[in-house]
Amino acid sequence: MPTIDWNPALYDQKHAFVFQYGKGLLSLLEPRAGETILDLGCGTGHLTKAIAESGARVVGIDSSAEMIEQARQGYPGIEFQVADARNFSLPYTFDAVFSNATLHWIKEAEPVVEHISAALRPGGRFVAELGGKGNVANLMGALQQALQEVAGVSLEPGWYFPSIGEYTPLLEKHGLAVQSVVLFDRPTQLEEGEKGIRIWLQMFSPGVFRDIPPNVKERVLARIEELLRPQFFRDGHWFADYRRLRVVAYKEQ
Ligand code: BEZ
Repeated sequence: MPTIDWNPALYDQKHAFVFQYGKGLLSLLEPRAGETILDLGCGTGHLTKAIAESGARVVGIDSSAEMIEQARQGYPGIEFQVADARNFSLPYTFDAVFSNATLHWIKEAEPVVEHISAALRPGGRFVAELGGKGNVANLMGALQQALQEVAGVSLEPGWYFPSIGEYTPLLEKHGLAVQSVVLFDRPTQLEEGEKGIRIWLQMFSPGVFRDIPPNVKERVLARIEELLRPQFFRDGHWFADYRRLRVVAYKEQ
């Protein structure tokens, strides 16, 4: 998994689109009163709270202690735990596991799917959205090209963006019968106008600029913007070429 120093305040203030889009995924989850639901990769807990409003009993887990701290402060009535998706165990099983914009952070997908399956009761559902094959390909291409040209640095992105053909068999192997899976483009407007790409990279590029001197970093950023501007800057806003994989699967009885 890429190491990333999560900044909960920056995440909430400048990347609200992550959980705003996640609300669409909630309509696929259809949480009901009395159900038990696990929110895997809950971040600062906004969607966990939305699930709890249905009357379901929800537990939010996230690998970032900073995010969990913020979630606990924001929603003290909800249970949140620091846990690693590759290796977690809870004392009971759930009616549903929900996950929005988290699973692409973890290259080791198999242990994650194994633990999701183990967390579900027979017949329980897994409803998730993650970056799919081709996600942010132009953004990453520009980052890689600019780093190479300006700083002589090669970058191997650390994300997991599976295709339908790759992800479905993995779910089936671990006893999750896929009911629907769809890969779709969702160009996403970034916040903060002209600064959008820089703020996105500050939040999401895992330490790429850590060892690069500030004056070189500035030239890399300017080159990224130059490469992307013709296609991805419109009406004062930057757009990221997001492509999502949405899945609904059921644990075999
Ligand atoms: C995404 O949500 O698609 C994403 C987030 C951070 C880095 C790359 C992709």
